[in-house]
Amino acid sequence: MAEGMSLTSSEGFPMNGGDGEGSYFINSSHQRYGADRSKGMMVAKIFENLSIENMSSSTTLRIADLGCSVGPNTFTAVETIIEAVSQKYHTTKWHHSGDLPEYQVYFTDVVSNDFNHLFTNLPQPKQYFAAAVPGSFHGRLFPKFSLDIVYSAYALHWLSKTPQELLDPNSPAYNKGRILYANSPNEVAQAYETQYAKDIQCFLHARAQEISPQGLMVLLVPGRPDGTSPQQPSIAPIFEPVESCLADLVNEGLLSEDKFDTFNLPMYCPCMEELKSLIHKNGCFDILTLEMQPPSPSPSPFHSAQEMRAGLDSILIEHFGHQIVEQLFDRYSKKVAGRSRLAPSVGLFVILKRRYVESCNQNVLDST
Ligand SMILES: C[S@@+](CC[C@H](N)C(=O)[O-])C[C@H]1O[C@@H](n2cnc3c(N)ncnc32)[C@H](O)[C@@H]1O
Repeated sequence: MAEGMSLTSSEGFPMNGGDGEGSYFINSSHQRYGADRSKGMMVAKIFENLSIENMSSSTTLRIADLGCSVGPNTFTAVETIIEAVSQKYHTTKWHHSGDLPEYQVYFTDVVSNDFNHLFTNLPQPKQYFAAAVPGSFHGRLFPKFSLDIVYSAYALHWLSKTPQELLDPNSPAYNKGRILYANSPNEVAQAYETQYAKDIQCFLHARAQEISPQGLMVLLVPGRPDGTSPQQPSIAPIFEPVESCLADLVNEGLLSEDKFDTFNLPMYCPCMEELKSLIHKNGCFDILTLEMQPPSPSPSPFHSAQEMRAGLDSILIEHFGHQIVEQLFDRYSKKVAGRSRLAPSVGLFVILKRRYVESCNQNVLDST
């Protein structure tokens, strides 16, 4: 086994905090445009599918955003969800207008997320009570049946860890000279795919216990079109310039080859069929919607150095140290200047409804 650890994101590789020029707060417009493209559909689907028969003005409607980061996109998402619920209340004949529930919103992310910045910037006035729930969404975060609507955007591609075999020179999945699976042998992509399948089962297992029967889950998932291999479109090519800059540093003798070869990003993007089969395997959710988001304008520019750093600084600095990361992004800016990606990003838009307990796979519910 090569030296190096299998990186784990459960302890957290948060987006850059604060609101400085390298922060996620001011470098999250790609994610914001992605969410905007599905806003109309999200409101319509929540309106159509949320069951409010048993809710009254004394009901508290509980919403969680998993992988909320530091804002501002999470604030917009929460407002969109509340707008959809309010519309439903106002147009349902057995509810009088003014008969709205109270809202409790849980902002959830890894423990090292900059929650202070998030809470300092909560919109005022706001229509909800807010609480932070730090922890990994790959495990339980809430009591049984305590949530009505769960939202998660551009976060589920983060794996709980990188597959161990990527570091093993004797494995066909040894990922020498790459940081992800673009242009990799199939075995590398398969190792990522297997880890993703395990992680999504953990995610769905936890949510199946936390979401009340008939509750909804809205997911925006970086993905890829059906019929494509993981190595082709979507997320992997986005990180190729980072990989290429690291390779340049190795070639110039500034970074050891071993350090480069022991770094792999814990990320994976599924196709629709793959995600559908993982949801069916869990057995506790009906799929109301599973489709590709409207495409982003093509050709898509590469992320700027600031945008890339907002998402990757913490994981890169932990492995390579500050100095190498500075050198890497000096090169990165020059490498991507004026260039566009051949394939635009692909997002999957998913809405799930929690089944009634009796129609759910009992094995899933028995264990916690
Ligand atoms: C690209 S940001 C998306 C933030 C926000 N949802 C948005 O749309 O702008 C991904 C977020 O997922 C969080 N994340 C990654 N792995 C996680 C995990 N296992 N549990 C909770 N949050 C996680 C990261 O810390 C990060 O804040």
